[in-house]
Amino acid sequence: MDQEFLDKIEKRRTFAIISHPDAGKTTLTEKLLLYGGAIHLAGSVKARKTAKHAVSDWMEIEKQRGISVTSSVLQFDYDGYRVNILDTPGHQDFSEDTYRTLMAADSAVMLIDAAKGVEPQTKKLFWVCHRRHLPIFTFVNKLDRYGRNPFDLMDELEKILNIRAYPINWPIGIDGHYKGVYDRLENTVQLFEDDTSHGANKLKSTTGSLDDPKIRELLGDELYENLCNDIELLDMAGDEFDLEKVKEGELTPMFFGSAMTNFGVQPFLEKFLELSPKPQPRALADGTTIDPENEKFSAFIFKIQANMNPAHRDRISFMRICSGKFTKDMQVHHKETGKPIKLAMPQQFLAQERTIVEEAYPGDIIGIFDPGVFGIGDSLSDNSLKLKFEEFPVFPPEIFARVQPKDSLKRKQFEKGVIQLSQEGAIQVFKQEGVGMESYIVGVVGELQLEVLEYRLLNEYRAELMMNTLPYSVARWVYAPDKKALDNMKGLDNGMLVYDKKDRPVILVNNEWSLNWILDRNPGIEFLTVPTDVEQI
Ligand code: G4P
Repeated sequence: MDQEFLDKIEKRRTFAIISHPDAGKTTLTEKLLLYGGAIHLAGSVKARKTAKHAVSDWMEIEKQRGISVTSSVLQFDYDGYRVNILDTPGHQDFSEDTYRTLMAADSAVMLIDAAKGVEPQTKKLFWVCHRRHLPIFTFVNKLDRYGRNPFDLMDELEKILNIRAYPINWPIGIDGHYKGVYDRLENTVQLFEDDTSHGANKLKSTTGSLDDPKIRELLGDELYENLCNDIELLDMAGDEFDLEKVKEGELTPMFFGSAMTNFGVQPFLEKFLELSPKPQPRALADGTTIDPENEKFSAFIFKIQANMNPAHRDRISFMRICSGKFTKDMQVHHKETGKPIKLAMPQQFLAQERTIVEEAYPGDIIGIFDPGVFGIGDSLSDNSLKLKFEEFPVFPPEIFARVQPKDSLKRKQFEKGVIQLSQEGAIQVFKQEGVGMESYIVGVVGELQLEVLEYRLLNEYRAELMMNTLPYSVARWVYAPDKKALDNMKGLDNGMLVYDKKDRPVILVNNEWSLNWILDRNPGIEFLTVPTDVEQI
């Protein structure tokens, strides 16, 4: 096998940062880019930060499409590594997007606010990673101000998330007097120098061993004693470091730092690159896997973003390369349509700039202009492979609305918009039997998604919406032994039978009680939280 190809795989890292809003994901991402040399002064990525609370902020961001383009994936090089950071939306209403993004990652960095510990959104995202056996690295942020005791935080990971933590480095001086870190694997102390750039520049630091008199002098007696005591306690009571357990997602390497002041960012980045996995094999629909080292190309689509540039109605599909080498303009097989497709105009995103990709390797993410043929989860591969990747998880929506265009002359635009947004995975679309194209039922997980639908249909497709929220909050895919059982379903006065985009029957009801009411009256019928042909995550 081509050694250069193997080396490229060995040096690739593709990961996502998961956190509760406000823990500092945008700031940390920016600092990683700063250390990777992709930006020269921190502060420039800040503008792309997605809105956390209000739709209006989100819209503002959408207006700056050129910036949000880069938010799908950021790439930089560091010390021979090619690093791909997958961006995950901060708002919980878009958690479905996050789940899909995690399908493209080989590991995750869990960011925790030192004062707040494990928060609800952290918990939710952690479980998704955990079920997928993704290795999780923990970065405890905001050490520059008052935070909780690091031992307590370790304990919290164990109690709430049920994962053991191994602190790779340990903070020296807490409660806002954070001076540096002790590296437990190297037995070295790194002390950071304060600077006046408020984190805009890289930090200077001094590194030395714990018994170096200069380090002891710089630390002062009290901090030195405290550190020695902490290390002794950790070595005595803590876990052994076991990389295999990390790879299985059973042990999380833990780091402490402050993204804002850059404290601890570089030691984290270096250790993370060293310990995190290279691109991993990917599961196929037939239960087998494909290895990245396979020389034949394969990739799957995990994100679609339409109209990123309002001047040209473009739609970009993002794919993760799973095996083989990608070369510009190559022709591949698209499993879902059974047709060959030329991957023209491939793009990569280096910090703020889009560049045309000549070649890319397993683990890399590239975006290609999509004429409207791709859907989330689609498989692309060499003509001799024609493989299909495992299905993406589908989430049962919890909020439903009937939508139709206000002006019936705008029906075409309306329909195009609704279909495209469903292909992007922004909404799920259902049809009622006997109802034509004039209205759809849309299902979403979060309220904000409906507002985004309304906004985007108006702004991108010039179609004003009429939207009636439906009184349902539970959706179940229906398994019926035959079509007759479905047609004769009883008890539907408490619900509605609709069909998803693959024509699979789905029942909408307002509560679990109604589900049971219908179940009782229809022996042989089953209700499933995921489509019959999809494995639940
Ligand atoms: P998010 O993407 O996870 O939502 O978080 P983001 O980076 O936007 O950070 C949320 C807030 O936390 C920001 O403050 C940011 O400056 C602050 N922050 C991030 N890292 C650190 C850190 O290491 N220490 C401290 N003390 N604060 C940190 P903000 O007031 O909301 O915004 P801004 O005015 O600073 O832009």
